[in-house]
Amino acid sequence: MALVSVATLRAQTNQFVIETGKPGAAIQSTMYGVFFEDINYAADGGLYAELVKNRSFEFPQNLMGWKTFGGVELRNDGPFERNPHYVRLSNAGHSHKHTGLENEGFFGIGVEEGAEYRFSVWARVPDGGTGAIRVELVDIHSMGERQAFATQNLIVEGAEWKKYQVILKPEVTHPKATLRIFFNARESRSPVDLEHISLFPVDTWRGHENGMRKDIAQALADLHPGVFRFPGGCIVEGTDLETRYNWKNSVGPVENRPLNENRWHYTFAHRFFPDYFQSYGLGFYEYFVLSEEIGAEPVPIVSCGLACQFQNNDPSAHVPVDELWPYVQDAFDLIEFANGSADTEWGRLRAEMGHPDPFGLKYLGVGNEQWGPEYPERLTVFIDAIRKAYPEIKIIGSSGPYNGGEWFEHLWPEMKRLKVDLVDEHYYSPENWFLNNATRYDSYDRKGPKVFAGEFAVHGRGKKWNHFNAALIEAAYMTGLERNADIVHMAAYAPLFAHVEGWQWRPDLIWFDNLDVVTSASYHVQRLYSIYKGTDVLPLTMGGAPVTGADGQNGLYASAVWDAGRGEIIVKVANTSAEPRSLSFDFKGLRRSETISVVRRISLHSDDPDADNTLENPTAVVPVETALTVGGPVVNVELEPATFAIYFFKK
Ligand code: AHR
Repeated sequence: MALVSVATLRAQTNQFVIETGKPGAAIQSTMYGVFFEDINYAADGGLYAELVKNRSFEFPQNLMGWKTFGGVELRNDGPFERNPHYVRLSNAGHSHKHTGLENEGFFGIGVEEGAEYRFSVWARVPDGGTGAIRVELVDIHSMGERQAFATQNLIVEGAEWKKYQVILKPEVTHPKATLRIFFNARESRSPVDLEHISLFPVDTWRGHENGMRKDIAQALADLHPGVFRFPGGCIVEGTDLETRYNWKNSVGPVENRPLNENRWHYTFAHRFFPDYFQSYGLGFYEYFVLSEEIGAEPVPIVSCGLACQFQNNDPSAHVPVDELWPYVQDAFDLIEFANGSADTEWGRLRAEMGHPDPFGLKYLGVGNEQWGPEYPERLTVFIDAIRKAYPEIKIIGSSGPYNGGEWFEHLWPEMKRLKVDLVDEHYYSPENWFLNNATRYDSYDRKGPKVFAGEFAVHGRGKKWNHFNAALIEAAYMTGLERNADIVHMAAYAPLFAHVEGWQWRPDLIWFDNLDVVTSASYHVQRLYSIYKGTDVLPLTMGGAPVTGADGQNGLYASAVWDAGRGEIIVKVANTSAEPRSLSFDFKGLRRSETISVVRRISLHSDDPDADNTLENPTAVVPVETALTVGGPVVNVELEPATFAIYFFKK
């Protein structure tokens, strides 16, 4: 047997020194958050539990998503000023002919056997008297004897528009049902008008009627995000200013929230979704309530008067600086909507919508991924005005769309000059970039603005989808965020959600179809960081240097925190190499009477770097917890290849 010298053993063991007596920066409660955008059918067709597409007949092709038959007429003098279209159903001319319509939902309508679904509709009998419709959930491809598996009749009375509802209880689970409405000609002497035709599960997240899909919202809540950034990235800007996200259109009664286009329907021609629009049913009120319910600080982003610069080089596409005031006013009104008392104009609306208490907004982002001199010029106007009127609000500026380069180099000094509180950085970069940049924030100016790593994800070279290796590299990189928690105050993976049939952009954190949710390997990394973020950074070094995957560090990345609440030292280590690594944890600064032992480990590993969780196999890559009892002043462990592990130590 070969003899192994002490020197070789030393070289093989990676000796981590952790200074327990020298806590560094406090870790912000906002440190790990989420970035929400209505991309990949994240809102309509996703988190927003509405099952009917184009419920107000306001898509540019008004009957998109609908099939009509018999005597159906589209009209435009309905009860909701900003959504004037509706349908009139009348006798098809013979008792055997049918009138009615069908809605296809978003990639079908997913329903569960025995669950309750609230069908609601605004309706009237324009000539007065009584009318009737039959509402069904059907399988239009059924090979069985009948198509319908949930049916209800609904009587409409009088010439006034009123809201009606019935509950449908499917007899079967179906991922792709169709909503069918028959005009009941026998019981209707005259036509019936229908507007805002809606179908929601009764059992939504926290039971809100205009609510969210429970399973998707739960996956979000399980991340324990510290911040919730909304309503997105590019959709904040719009392809042009007319189609920017206008928060004021997203509040008030849902029936009267006007439709907006969704730029993601056409941004990528190879993933083209002509029926992707924003109903605004999930609007700013709902985002604030959700933030509160999941315990995250709300971080709304408003338009700075620049349309998407990727799509518009022409200065005339943007608001001239001296005409910016209405945009600043929108930001003021938003702050009032969130924080004003119920006797202010916008605070009253919030109270009327069901939330008399302020939401306690602390942060506001101005602009998404802007660049060039046109951005600071406009941001200045916002900053001056907001600082004067609302000095307590922290303002988030942007460093553009990339991790570096000309735009980035221009904007960071500008952000310092303008004294924004945080700078929103975006980077979708390949593996090597992440592996080489765990030191990114070590050299940032400590006196400047803080960092919001507001959108990041490993976009593998030739592997632009979720896979374990990307998640492992994200975990490795994030040790660098954690080590720099004095300057990095917020971080969010992006994008958050994707429908398996309706995505435009991947990878994404959480995937779903019409019935189920699956969380990616990257999700588990984000969740573990968030839950075990600790309260204070502890210095961790190997050979006197931070463990950042540098040469000679054997593909290791590590960071350590003290968690005052748990009374634990938590050490995160990513072994990005293909070899197992021996680690020793040497705790300095313990009192003589103190010993330390590792009590458990949570790890994420796959033998297959391409493995990921899918709807068919949702647990291919999940964290595994192991109880450990290794004690001593120095604790030795073995870490497997390609593994992210979190070690929990107790004194
Ligand atoms: O996350 C998808 C897009 O990426 C965002 O909308 C935008 O901010 C970034 O370019």
